[in-house]
Amino acid sequence: MAKIVVVGSISTDFVVETNVKPAQGETVFGEDFNTSFGGKGANQAVACAKLGAQTAMIGAVGNDSFGQALIDNLESYHIDTSAVKVKENTPSGSAIITLYNRDNSIIYVGGANNKVTRSDIDDQVNLIQSADMVIVQNETPVETVQRLIEQCTACEVPIILNPAPARLLETKWLDQVTYLTPNETEFAELFSGETMDAVLSRYTNKLIITLGDQGAMFHDGKNVVTVPSYKVSPDDIVDTTGAGDTFNGALAVALANEFDLADAIRFANLAGGLSIQHKGAQGGIPTLDQMKESEHYEATWHIE
Ligand code: RIB
Ligand code: NA
Repeated sequence: MAKIVVVGSISTDFVVETNVKPAQGETVFGEDFNTSFGGKGANQAVACAKLGAQTAMIGAVGNDSFGQALIDNLESYHIDTSAVKVKENTPSGSAIITLYNRDNSIIYVGGANNKVTRSDIDDQVNLIQSADMVIVQNETPVETVQRLIEQCTACEVPIILNPAPARLLETKWLDQVTYLTPNETEFAELFSGETMDAVLSRYTNKLIITLGDQGAMFHDGKNVVTVPSYKVSPDDIVDTTGAGDTFNGALAVALANEFDLADAIRFANLAGGLSIQHKGAQGGIPTLDQMKESEHYEATWHIE
C-alpha cells in the first residue's frame, strides 16, 4: 500500500444553494443550506484514503464544537489523525460556500488551520520520512509550507504543492517541490507575465496546469501534452466543490504507485470527473472500486 502524508486544512463547509446572487445590500431567497466536511487538505486526504492509500494527516482543528467532528470524519476513512492537533482558544477552519448554477464560490476562514506551525512539521519528521508522497496546499501558513518543502527535500520524499488558494511563493520554493499543480488563476498569480509554454518547458514532468473541464497540461521533455478530462454531461454535474482536491489526491495515489505522469493525470481526471456528480466536497470522491466500475478505468492501472 502506498503511504501518503497530507499536510493542510481541515474545515467545515457551510453551503448555500441559490438561483440568484444578491447584489450589494440586497436580500434574496436561497434554495438550500447544509454543512459538510471540507478543507482542501482534508479533502485530499479523503481522496487518498478512498483510492486505497495508507493516509496520514498533519493539521489542526479548534477546541470548538466542530473540531472533534472534523477529526471523527477523517477517522471514518481510516486516516491516521495522530498528527492533527487541537488548538486552544481557536475556532476550527470554515468555508462559506455559495453554490450558484452548480458552480461554487468560496470564502475561506482559516481558524486553527492558520495555527499549524513550523514546529508542527518538525514534530512529524519521522512520519514525513516514511511517506511515498507528501501533499500540501495553501490553506496553512506560508512558513509552514516552506518548512515542509525543506523537510521533504532533506528526506528526499517527493512532494506535490497544490498552490490553492492562489498565493505568491518565491521561485526557490517552487524549484524544490517535485510536482506543482496550479489551475489557471493560480498559475497567473505564481508566474505573472510568463506564458504557460515557457514555464511548462522549464518545469518538465513537474508543472501540471489544471484547466477544469479542459483537462490538464504538462511538458514531457519534448512537447506540451494536454490530457483531456472525462466529459461529464451538464445534467450530471451536481457540485464541483472539491474536484481539484480529488484530482490532487488521486494524482498522489497514482504517482505513489509509479504510474507515468500522463497516466497519473488520466487517473486523476477520472476521479475528479466522478466527484462532481454528487453533493459536497467529499461526498462524491470515488472509492477505488467505484473507479474500477467506470468504463474509462484502464486495464493497465494497478493500485497496490
Ligand atoms: O477545494 C474545496 C475546499 O476548499 C472546500 O471544501 C472548502 O473547505 C475550501 O476551503
Ligand atoms: Na462533489
